[in-house]
Amino acid sequence: MRILLINSSFRKNGATAKILNEILRVLETHNDVEASILHLSDFKLDYCKGCSRCFQTGKCYLQDDAEHISNLIAESDAIVVGAPTYASSIPGQMKTLIDRGHFVMEQLLHGKYTLSVATYENADGMSVIKSLNKLFLYSGAVLSGNICIKTAFNQDPLNSQSKKDNVRKQAERLYWNMTKGAKGNIINRIIHHIVFHVGIKPFVLKEKTKYAGVLDHWKRRGIFNATI
Ligand SMILES: Cc1cc2nc3c(=O)[nH]c(=O)nc-3n(C[C@H](O)[C@H](O)[C@H](O)COP(=O)(O)O)c2cc1C
Repeated sequence: MRILLINSSFRKNGATAKILNEILRVLETHNDVEASILHLSDFKLDYCKGCSRCFQTGKCYLQDDAEHISNLIAESDAIVVGAPTYASSIPGQMKTLIDRGHFVMEQLLHGKYTLSVATYENADGMSVIKSLNKLFLYSGAVLSGNICIKTAFNQDPLNSQSKKDNVRKQAERLYWNMTKGAKGNIINRIIHHIVFHVGIKPFVLKEKTKYAGVLDHWKRRGIFNATI
């Protein structure tokens, strides 16, 4: 089982990275897990230009690392996204990946297990968790859980046994959900059903040629097969 952990803080030894490292350590105790951490700071990501060409072609025309990261996500069975809180929200580098990564339209996380991680110093860590979980849900994922830790800048975010226990519990739950093929919370499944079948699908099917790239991804991922 492949698990990709994404650190969207530029600080590779910061609070978010420390939590992701602990999750990685727990996951790697299972022999059937192949997990790795991707630091967004190692990649070049330009802003989305809003041209919508990717809807037709299935990929972005910009020559940077967005497609590579998107493919790594598509090849994983689970993703863990870690983000520091910036100005009460997700950091810009994560938003750029979301805008570029074809998450919602292509249902990039269809059937994948997700765990959201946020760190913050004063307030609004849960706003980050909510943004990530909404993205995961709308993109077709099974939400496994979340970890939101308040920590002073440059201090150890896992400085108590209860925080360590919670991180281990969430990592084990992610593994358990994957191995059992858990379907996730019924309310979330209903929300996703409405978002996809009432919102996205009819919208795309109205202009099949314009969304040929999206339809191709749905077909290849076993989500929906439409004749163009
Ligand atoms: C630009 C910037 C904006 C921030 N905004 C907030 C904020 O709105 N609320 C908060 O509680 N902490 C805020 N922080 C603090 C970080 O969220 C916190 O220190 C986080 O744990 C840093 O994670 P890292 O060490 O992985 O980079 C901000 C930090 C920076 C650099």
